[in-house]
Amino acid sequence: SKEYDLYAPRQNGTQEQQAEGPKVSVLFGTQTGTAERFANQISEEINERYPKVKAAAYDIETYDHENKLEAEELALFCVATYGDGEPTDSALNFTTWMGDLVSKGEEDGSMPLKGLKYGVFALGNKQYEHYCACGKLVDRRLKALGATQVIERGEGDDDANIEDDFAAWKEKLWVELDNLGYAAATKMNGANGHHANGNGVAVKKTPSKAPEEFSVEKVAGTASLWRFDKAEIGPNSPVEVPVSERRELHTSESDRSCIHAELDISGTNLSYETGDHVGIFASNPPELVSEALKRLDYDGKSFVKLTAKPGSKLSKLMFEGKAMSIRDLVSYFLDLQSPPRKESLLALAACASDPKEKARLEHLASKEGRDEYRSYILDDLRSLLEVLQAFPSAKPSLGVFAARIAPKLQPRFYSISSSPLKHPKSIHISCALVEGDSPTGRYHKGVASTWLSRCKPNSSKIAVFVRKSNFKLPQKAEAPIIMIGPGTGFAPFRGFLQEREAQASMGGAGLGEAHLYFGCRSRTKDFIYEDEIMGWKESDVLSMLNCAFSRDQAKKVYVQDLIKQRAQEFYRLIGEEKASLYICGDKNMAKDVNLVLHSIIQQQGGKTSSEAEGMIKDMQTEGRYMRDVW
Ligand code: 2AM
Repeated sequence: SKEYDLYAPRQNGTQEQQAEGPKVSVLFGTQTGTAERFANQISEEINERYPKVKAAAYDIETYDHENKLEAEELALFCVATYGDGEPTDSALNFTTWMGDLVSKGEEDGSMPLKGLKYGVFALGNKQYEHYCACGKLVDRRLKALGATQVIERGEGDDDANIEDDFAAWKEKLWVELDNLGYAAATKMNGANGHHANGNGVAVKKTPSKAPEEFSVEKVAGTASLWRFDKAEIGPNSPVEVPVSERRELHTSESDRSCIHAELDISGTNLSYETGDHVGIFASNPPELVSEALKRLDYDGKSFVKLTAKPGSKLSKLMFEGKAMSIRDLVSYFLDLQSPPRKESLLALAACASDPKEKARLEHLASKEGRDEYRSYILDDLRSLLEVLQAFPSAKPSLGVFAARIAPKLQPRFYSISSSPLKHPKSIHISCALVEGDSPTGRYHKGVASTWLSRCKPNSSKIAVFVRKSNFKLPQKAEAPIIMIGPGTGFAPFRGFLQEREAQASMGGAGLGEAHLYFGCRSRTKDFIYEDEIMGWKESDVLSMLNCAFSRDQAKKVYVQDLIKQRAQEFYRLIGEEKASLYICGDKNMAKDVNLVLHSIIQQQGGKTSSEAEGMIKDMQTEGRYMRDVW
């Protein structure tokens, strides 16, 4: 029967494999951990629903796709999109590999993934232009390689409610897996109570107590909080460096703040290129940590070591196996300010002793509580700490809090604002201070910017790593460039200009034209790096400077307004001189600039809208249109 087909021994299968049920691999490409969390959820739930099926989640970066993918039965992909529609760092090898296979297939008709069934859940953010681009790409390429889609591609919008999008997609997934015969196979083998109820919807009971995933040992102190691998500095093994300088970039007239900080990388083997990003592991503001410790009755001073219990399905966390004070654990590794996810609320519910609080937390995490979750948690930007305070009877143990309730504190990325040609031993950061009232009246403090604004040069240290980017100057210094970077979007261009300054002083071929479009609120308040910019203008490292001081006159003026005014010159540069165009900064600005670019190409080049689109695409393929947006 059909059911048995599922268990037909695979060719070359070992005895062991024959005895097993179908296998599902869930592959994730993650940047901040959401795709990884989703992949783990899928594989856990598959294993729960279909006891004969073996599902496991793998990081796409370490998964041996070249040898294994072809032999998979069913592969599910959870892939995030990063930056300007790019794959995450971890998925880059994989998407490139698929691209090469697709090209090969176009030539010789090969379809190496013909035997593979697959499904894709794409993660993205509708605020950005290339929504879910990486998931769409993976989907397209799998199809082109002959694989069979068993479930329509899901898309999750991080700007709205990605958790609900994902939950809805999963419901469809169970139906499709049931259709494939997975549920029938399971029933035949005896269901064990907590899954498939006829139409494939799981009835999962909230555990009365959150499972302890960690054993918590009391221990003595530790030398370093970070795993350090000198040969491979990266997000899992950052290097601690001192801050060597910090200063305010706004004038005293400004009521906001923007920090210039310098990280001393001498004595490490960390290197960087102009245009790269630096990831920093800042710690939570100490006053928030104190509040959390107090609320949870944890003794911040005692030292602990958390070790995952055998069989734990948690993915490896950075603090695991490291002895540290509870205060450091909460300061460096746990996110206290993000609005909690539904699973966090459920885990918290399991620890609440007051039945009313328990019921309310469960409701917020349930399908029926969807609207309330949206208004109470998401719209109000209610932090985890606020939720803890609103439900005082919930007293999670440290292990449960660290594993199930508090998300891991993510590193924050900044576009490096220096060039190694001028500063080989330091990395500069230009960072606007993020703070302000939340809808509930809580005073929100951005983790990294607050840390940077308070750090002490020559005594504060911070764990960092460098992430390569393709936001790079043209190969030839004589090629013209246009840089558009209002606010801290100017950061990488400071690096570019330092690099050109160094190139100029080394002689050689003359520098190409360089035009900068900078914007800020007011010339006298937030014109960051004014002296340096004027200096570069003076010495011709910068050929043309256009500043949009948006609030210095009655009507707002933005960088794109200045670009419009100079449409002819702008078109000459990109159309005839083959200038490279760089945009860095806020995504809305980038969108608006893109629109203006579009209309300039049409007007000045006498092109139709689709021809203009084509020209922009060509610039992108030639690497002459680059964006670094946030
Ligand atoms: P505003 O705050 O006065 O609106 C750096 O933040 C500069 O970018 C500020 O002058 C800011 O102006 C401006 N800005 C805000 N939104 C923008 C957009 N969509 N396009 C271009 N510039 C923008």
